[in-house]
Amino acid sequence: MTEPRRADLLLTDARIATMAPDAAVPYGLLDDGVVAVTDGRISHVGPRGSAADIVPERTGSAHGRLVTPGLVDCHTHLVFGGHRADEFEQRLGGATYEDTARAGGGIAATVAATRAASDDELLASARRRLGWLAAGGVTTVEVKSGYGLDLDTELRMLRTARRLGAEDTMRVTTTFLAHTVPADRRDDPDGYVDEVCRDVLPTVAAERLADAVDVFCERIAFSPAQTERILATAVDLGLPVKLHAEQLSDSGGAVLAARYGALSADHLEHLSPAGAAALAGAGTVAVLLPGASAFLGEARLPPVGLLREHGVPMAVSTDLNPGTSPLGSLLQAVNLACTRFRLTPEEALRGATWNAARALGHDDRGVVAVGALADLAIWEVERPAELAYWHGVDLLAARILGGQLTLPGEPV
Ligand code: NIG
Ligand code: FE
Repeated sequence: MTEPRRADLLLTDARIATMAPDAAVPYGLLDDGVVAVTDGRISHVGPRGSAADIVPERTGSAHGRLVTPGLVDCHTHLVFGGHRADEFEQRLGGATYEDTARAGGGIAATVAATRAASDDELLASARRRLGWLAAGGVTTVEVKSGYGLDLDTELRMLRTARRLGAEDTMRVTTTFLAHTVPADRRDDPDGYVDEVCRDVLPTVAAERLADAVDVFCERIAFSPAQTERILATAVDLGLPVKLHAEQLSDSGGAVLAARYGALSADHLEHLSPAGAAALAGAGTVAVLLPGASAFLGEARLPPVGLLREHGVPMAVSTDLNPGTSPLGSLLQAVNLACTRFRLTPEEALRGATWNAARALGHDDRGVVAVGALADLAIWEVERPAELAYWHGVDLLAARILGGQLTLPGEPV
């Protein structure tokens, strides 16, 4: 006879979209399954009746509802001051995003508002936006800096993100983002890049404030040569890299990202065939951001067919930010990825779970599998495709983080 196995929680009567990457069935669906949690991790997942040897402390029924991994939002800029609803109105009147940026608005407007915000204000507004994501089933979120553009404010942004992570309502990973050249340094962009490499990045690394480094490689931000210097410095400091690449033009960012073994290359509306091949060769995840594409009314869509052809893993994220994507729902991004970019619901959901985790360098989440973190979302739907189909509605029944129920209500 086998020894009984201890568990803190046994969740039964669950239709589980495991999202296991090697599953033989779509979504890795287990129609009538059970999940056990021990010490914050998944200790068992299988069909009804497979957990007879498990002695759980608590049992809960999902009442046949759909259970997925907690969602992973792998690209956000959710720490910032103010908002940019005025620019939204101007764009609807005909101005383009690039026009506004060149006229001193855009990122620079949020930089001014972020520098002016107190630590408490930054924390409170970011916490509110984190709450939006949590209420939509997100359990891990990446948060970028990049609205400070001076050492002090960049550090304040990263500390704010770390503080949010320490509140234990969400797993937070942080990224230092070299976003653009500040307005008062436009006459000497290379000097500014020197400063980022010499002073800012080493301080960020020494204080362990960032889990990765990102650069906005674009004609309104950093050139490929400047981007490369920042990436090389990050790699020297032992930090993984990612890139905002080919959002507004084909700057060759994807090839650069691949050369530096980037975890992800993000946006990619203007990705070239050579760029797609390079990402495939490096195992870099393509992060698609349909919220920004829709909000800016971009005619050009990322070449999803090319990404599929090359077998580049695709992730989907909100890009939550005040300028191009004031979007606080990852499922809404999943819906937009299907309707706008023509991803299948399964691709889009994998993009907000397993592939999003990979875009952050994690293999312990975004999947319901033994050994993974016990981060789960329970939904008021029958079929996984419904998560991409309904939109603008609240489908979440419960959210479990490290085995702990973090939203009130049924079923556990
Ligand atoms: O991901 N592309 C650059 N950064 C953000 C937008 C920044 C802003 O306009 O505030 C993005 O779209
Ligand atoms: Fe972004």
